[in-house]
Amino acid sequence: MPWNTKELTIGELAERSGVPASALRFYERQGLIRSRRTSGNQRRYHRTTLRVVAFIRASQNVGIPLAVIGEVLGFLPEGATPTREFWVRASDCWREELNARIERLERMRDLFTECIGCGCLSFEQCTLVNPGDKLGEKGSGPHRLSSGPRVERVEAEQVSGG
Ligand code: FES
Repeated sequence: MPWNTKELTIGELAERSGVPASALRFYERQGLIRSRRTSGNQRRYHRTTLRVVAFIRASQNVGIPLAVIGEVLGFLPEGATPTREFWVRASDCWREELNARIERLERMRDLFTECIGCGCLSFEQCTLVNPGDKLGEKGSGPHRLSSGPRVERVEAEQVSGG
């Protein structure tokens, strides 16, 4: 072999990782993995890239966005691969992310239950259409002005003629 035996072609990396070459090229464009180019402009990956790809796939499979994975990989020194300890720390963070996402989904499921069989898709009434509208939960009207100390003070001044 004319090239370094510690290196893999993109086809070999794809085969060994089970990740399509197109996805590997995408990872590379996103700065998650690196390659060098041969004189014929072909990609060559260091074998340790396999471990980086494993880290990316494991993280993606629990729903972590690539941008976040990239940020975490950015903590690795140049050319280093994710160690066991690195994965342990990252997976601790992923667990928190996963739990937060499960809680959000459970809240959405509860809201969604109210929608089943409704079909109104109303901005005023449907909490799934407009989940952040806390005031909307109280309905429209003057009570909107009475929430908050500043408004209460203004109202008190108006009543006292101040
Ligand atoms: S569709 Fe009617 S409450 Fe959501």
